[in-house]
Amino acid sequence: MSTFHATVTPPWDERAWRDVARAAWRAGIAPDQLTWDGDGQASLLAGVDVLAQAPVRLAPHVPPDFLALAGSVLCHRDAQRHGLLYRLLWRIASGERALLERETDADVRRAGELAKAVGRDSHKMKAFVRFREVPGERDAFVAWFEPEHFIVDRVAPFFARRFAGMRWAILTPYRSAFWDGSALGFGGGATRGDAPADDAQDALWRTYYANIFNPARLNPRMMTQEMPQKYWKNLPEARLLPTLLAEAGARVQAMADREAEAPRRRIPERVVEPLPRAEGLPALRAAARECRRCELWQPATQTVFGEGPSSARIMIVGEQPGDAEDLSGRPFVGPAGQLFDRALATHGIDRARLYLTNAVKHFRFEQRGKRRLHRNPAVSHMQACRPWLEREIATVKPRIIVCLGATAARAVFGAGFKLMEQRATWMRLDDGTRAFATVHPSWVLRQASGEARDTAYQSFVDDLALLAELADAAQDASS
Ligand code: URA
Repeated sequence: MSTFHATVTPPWDERAWRDVARAAWRAGIAPDQLTWDGDGQASLLAGVDVLAQAPVRLAPHVPPDFLALAGSVLCHRDAQRHGLLYRLLWRIASGERALLERETDADVRRAGELAKAVGRDSHKMKAFVRFREVPGERDAFVAWFEPEHFIVDRVAPFFARRFAGMRWAILTPYRSAFWDGSALGFGGGATRGDAPADDAQDALWRTYYANIFNPARLNPRMMTQEMPQKYWKNLPEARLLPTLLAEAGARVQAMADREAEAPRRRIPERVVEPLPRAEGLPALRAAARECRRCELWQPATQTVFGEGPSSARIMIVGEQPGDAEDLSGRPFVGPAGQLFDRALATHGIDRARLYLTNAVKHFRFEQRGKRRLHRNPAVSHMQACRPWLEREIATVKPRIIVCLGATAARAVFGAGFKLMEQRATWMRLDDGTRAFATVHPSWVLRQASGEARDTAYQSFVDDLALLAELADAAQDASS
């Protein structure tokens, strides 16, 4: 019979549970003497509060993987989870050090199931939260989501990293998370009516979804597994599903008819090569010379890899090499590069101390007679090239990254980045690196000559003043 009771507030909080569990262990209270209150109703529980007990022994020692498991399990709604974790803690601290490796143990198995369910729910939240703009407010977004478990505190940092540059709130029935552009906050639950209804972005999202929907690959069972129906009501694209599903048969038939008319040609499966294991900039550069991860290597003269000292504290990321870069094999040597040099010089920044690279490392162009006209890289080119950029960042470890233009900004900050709204604003990347984006120097060059170009140039120089503020300190560190 239990003589003691314990309350964890809030019931998903790892630290709160640890404090109580540690006090119970130190007071020598065995798992079967203890009743856990999973819902904050302590007054209904009989017995003596665990926290009032005097310690009779030292704090328990448990391995870090137990604490990681506990962090997940606590987010589950199962009312028995606190007691289950305490039983595990008790057994591990009492000498069963390898307990978590025994997958056949009933407690270990149950904890694993709960952790997995929390993992799945967290994944769904990352995939199915849809922000809607708050009417009348600039850059403020609210999303409504109904998680199965207590996962808001666990998943909110992901959204803070992903949408660092906007103000947002995620409302759920039991808890809300807020991000004001610099700090995360949490509040009570809300109702669906507290979030704005449909907006223009929903319509855009639906158009996109209808366009990418491939009826021939329709697998309703997989679809409901991956996107359970309970989330559909909050997804703008889900409204299209009944129509798209109903039309799928006819559309597949139409596709099959079209294929029957087309000449039969076997399209080889596209295989994206993994990156080689090269370490250090010279080895990475050599490996990138052979890159075939997308088709751009073929018409291009060569790979244009980044250049600059490996100790550089500032990394500049551009879009892709242009004609001059393609021929010379060096980034930012053509007209855009010269304009960039001039803008750097106004702030007294020495280009030789920067590491300059591009989001895409082959020139994409269209041949018109003898001229090679620049074409914007596609998302697939950026994605294929991204691992190279990641390796450059991991190798150089810059303190500051400056993105020139939207392609570079999206490669660094993610697809949702809006250059003209977010330019010249400091952000923090996941690893703490400071970064901001500004326009691309070739955008300045594309402005009509005269006042428009002068203004564009001046705004570019002004944006780089952000860099100038920190450049001295960052450059000193590299000298
Ligand atoms: N534009 C870029 O983005 N990069 C270069 O290297 C040259 C022009």
